Amino acid sequence: MPRPYQPSLLRLLHGATALLVPLAWLTGLLVYSRYDGRFGRLPFTLAGEWIDIHGTVGVLLWPLALLFALYALTAGRLRLRQPANALALVALVMAVGSGKLMDEDWLRDGQFHHLVYSVHLLAWLLIALAVTLHVVAVLQRGGLPLARSMASVQLRPGDLPGNWFDQIRRSFKVRS
Ligand code: HEM
Repeated sequence: MPRPYQPSLLRLLHGATALLVPLAWLTGLLVYSRYDGRFGRLPFTLAGEWIDIHGTVGVLLWPLALLFALYALTAGRLRLRQPANALALVALVMAVGSGKLMDEDWLRDGQFHHLVYSVHLLAWLLIALAVTLHVVAVLQRGGLPLARSMASVQLRPGDLPGNWFDQIRRSFKVRS
């Protein structure tokens, strides 16, 4: 079987997203535990302005998620036929979209009743589930070689940054 290869633009956008999502998730957990905690709290508190830190991760994540989603829907759309890939993308868009609509003062003011906040909490749960399913599906389908292909730094000829625009453009022509 040929070694799996992922296009470099996908690796860049996916890799940066896969680094920021766990950071957003963990800082979100700390925010939830400190300010909300209706369904339980962590048994410890960590000093820090976690709302600001979580917001900063969100500010970095949303433009990246937008580019990644645009890539996945164009050049990467055949990969979205894998349900676990599509679910991971839906969860990402839901988490980032609802996060952008949040007001950072809601939790400081104890306002937990906003619909957008409930959607954001749901997205926080969903993304953990979706990414777990996604990684399990990747390992089932292609094992470690497929998982590793996303972290590889090898470049094939014709897959350099100068080719990215062409790759996206071609994806509009290929219909399947
Ligand atoms: C942390 C958040 C993650 C999100 C939101 C995410 C999302 C996605 C999405 C949407 C795709 C499809 C891309 C496309 O259509 O071009 C994808 C593909 C892929 N992801 Fe992730 N991913 C995450 C983490 C991971 C991790 C930790 C691994 C390592 C096992 C991984 C391995 C892969 C692989 C190998 C593919 C290509 C699969 C294929 O060819 O079907 N992902 N990911």
